[in-house]
Amino acid sequence: MYSKELFKGEVILVTGGRTGIGYGIAELFIELGGLVIITSRDKSNLEKSSKNLSNNGECHYRVCDIRKTETIEDLINWIDKKFGKLDVLINNAGGQFPAPAEVMSQKGWAAVINNNLNGTFNMSHSCANKFFIPQSPKGT
Ligand SMILES: NC(=O)c1ccc[n+]([C@@H]2O[C@H](COP(=O)([O-])OP(=O)(O)OC[C@H]3O[C@@H](n4cnc5c(N)ncnc54)[C@H](OP(=O)(O)O)[C@@H]3O)[C@@H](O)[C@H]2O)c1
Repeated sequence: MYSKELFKGEVILVTGGRTGIGYGIAELFIELGGLVIITSRDKSNLEKSSKNLSNNGECHYRVCDIRKTETIEDLINWIDKKFGKLDVLINNAGGQFPAPAEVMSQKGWAAVINNNLNGTFNMSHSCANKFFIPQSPKGT
């Protein structure tokens, strides 16, 4: 349906791309010609996923915890040095656990908010400032 070269020349970052939905998204971008970077906290399984994804195109991996700004900084600098740009950010990393609200602890609530909300903000903020705003035609 789509051209196999739709994302040719584009650099795509999929957080949490070693498993599940993120893996599927990475797979599709690769199928459509994109250069994909997957990230997560688990280096050995990340490497395995990246190796599998590389069977159909170009996939790279980097360990990054979206809750930790220093690991995001490291990832951003690595992308800049290696590829010189970023075209697409897929904020997929995150998670939650099913529990009735009345039994959820403050600690559990804070952990989910920190990962899903703060983590997504951290990634968006860093990628926008380093890549998307400077790369946009008007620098906005
Ligand atoms: N499946 C659903 O029905 C559903 C519904 C609503 C929303 N979602 C959301 O959709 C996303 C993908 O879901 P999924 O079902 O594919 O889940 P999944 O298989 O558990 O994938 C989540 C990925 O995020 C990574 N991750 C989690 N916390 C991270 C952190 N702090 N820093 C970096 N990576 C982190 C995990 O890798 P590591 O553990 O190696 O770090 C994992 O690869 C999640 O954000 C989930 O909350 C899913």
